[in-house]
Amino acid sequence: MLNLTTADLKKTAISTLIVPVCEDMEIHEKSIIKTLIREAKKLKEFKGKTNDEIILYNMPSVKPERIFFTGIGKIEKLKPDVFRSLAGRIVKACATKGLSEILFVLPSAKRLKIETESVVEAFLEGAYLGNHLFDRYKKDKKVKPLKRISFMVPPDVKQKFNHLPKRVETICQGTILAREWVSMPPNDKTPELFSKRIVSMAKKEKLKVTVLNEKEMKRMKFGSLLAVSAGSVNKPCMVVMEYNPVKSTKEIVFVGKGVTFDSGGINLKSADGLDSMKMDMAGAAAAAASLITVAKLKPRVKVTGVIPLVENMPSGSAARPGDIVKSYSGKTVEIGNTDAEGRLILIDALSYIIKKNKPDIVIDMATLTGACVVALGEKIAGVFSPDDELSSAIIKSGEKTDERCWRLPLPEDYKELIKSDFADIKNIASSRYGGAITAALFLAEFRKKTKWAHIDIAGPAYAKKGNAYCGPGGTGFGVRLFCDLLDKI
Ligand code: BES
Ligand code: ZN
Ligand code: ZN
Repeated sequence: MLNLTTADLKKTAISTLIVPVCEDMEIHEKSIIKTLIREAKKLKEFKGKTNDEIILYNMPSVKPERIFFTGIGKIEKLKPDVFRSLAGRIVKACATKGLSEILFVLPSAKRLKIETESVVEAFLEGAYLGNHLFDRYKKDKKVKPLKRISFMVPPDVKQKFNHLPKRVETICQGTILAREWVSMPPNDKTPELFSKRIVSMAKKEKLKVTVLNEKEMKRMKFGSLLAVSAGSVNKPCMVVMEYNPVKSTKEIVFVGKGVTFDSGGINLKSADGLDSMKMDMAGAAAAAASLITVAKLKPRVKVTGVIPLVENMPSGSAARPGDIVKSYSGKTVEIGNTDAEGRLILIDALSYIIKKNKPDIVIDMATLTGACVVALGEKIAGVFSPDDELSSAIIKSGEKTDERCWRLPLPEDYKELIKSDFADIKNIASSRYGGAITAALFLAEFRKKTKWAHIDIAGPAYAKKGNAYCGPGGTGFGVRLFCDLLDKI
């Protein structure tokens, strides 16, 4: 699908050429490209400003019949995500026009003063992700994705980075898998159905996968998780995926919140935007898709995915506010609000895997709180960890992948807010404020002494409108972040 080429523009069979143009600097080395850009810039309506676009046909001295010049703005604003967005935007536009193959001319990294690898990677990622369309529920599939996307680079760049297209495809396939799962309607991904989807993908990649069913979880006393699923006719389960290479140096666990639909339970949510609560399993999607990707990337560390799956519904059998349940850890939890269900399933998943595997690092990802969206907006995830090194590694991976993360504190004195008069702990805080923090503090009580980080993705997991390289729906946030992080920790 993606490939690097040193194509000769006088001979290439590809009919569409894409030329990124900077507003205030020449970013290409090849004289033939520079000449083309000079011609395009002669036109009043094209100066290389961000989103400036012009198509010129049958230009002299090059074979492609259609040259798509696309403005990327001023040099000082150029960073990898500008290229990711540009590539995504162009791919979408070309697919909409019914094209099937295009050739990007990559700018010279030297001129941009950005590392070559980052430039190439950003173009590849934006193009691959922008080519994805979630249309599996539509009969009339109007737009067909591009079949092949090529990138013109100098011979030395092709030689050094020829492995990148494959790696980017593998990782972005993981992102797309997570996107599809998140966008999928909740009637097609009840815990049982979703677990079957995960198992079938995991088996293809030869991952070890086990599914704990409700009966087993009852026997094993997952009291907190089971309280959440008690109101639903759809039974809960927990998927454990294991990638275990022969000479692994350490074990990293990725836990993902998997609420396949969050109605709020007896503390029913309001009607507004309730349909988007199908995305409350985005943490689970990120964890499962990451494991499937890890199985292809084959790093030297052991990686385990733990995916608790439940549906949070109100009914006569649902848990009530005021109920006290015994979690897997043995601690009792007072349920102050049935809509704070994510933390209830996560603590049982965390306690279980920490006790069973004693991993070196545990990272959980969850669409946990609306408060985190209030604090950081819809594009940035909150990171909570007592460990400075782990937090900064996550933040660095976030910068690299543009799955942005921002560290929030775990203040000791706020623990006061989740004390219960009747049980060991309460699932909601006594204050209306700082809800993302108190949720994280609740989880922290169950990490024992394990190196742990919690990532609240309630904002960036879902994009109602979509963006340059992501359609409306699930964003697949977390997969690229996690894959990058594996090389750093
Ligand atoms: N799934 C929600 C959080 C959420 C909100 C995700 C917006 C994505 C977008 C979570 O289960 C929830 O309902 N949290 C409550 C907690 C409260 C009851 C303490 C919230 O954030 O309001
Ligand atoms: Zn909820
Ligand atoms: Zn929820």
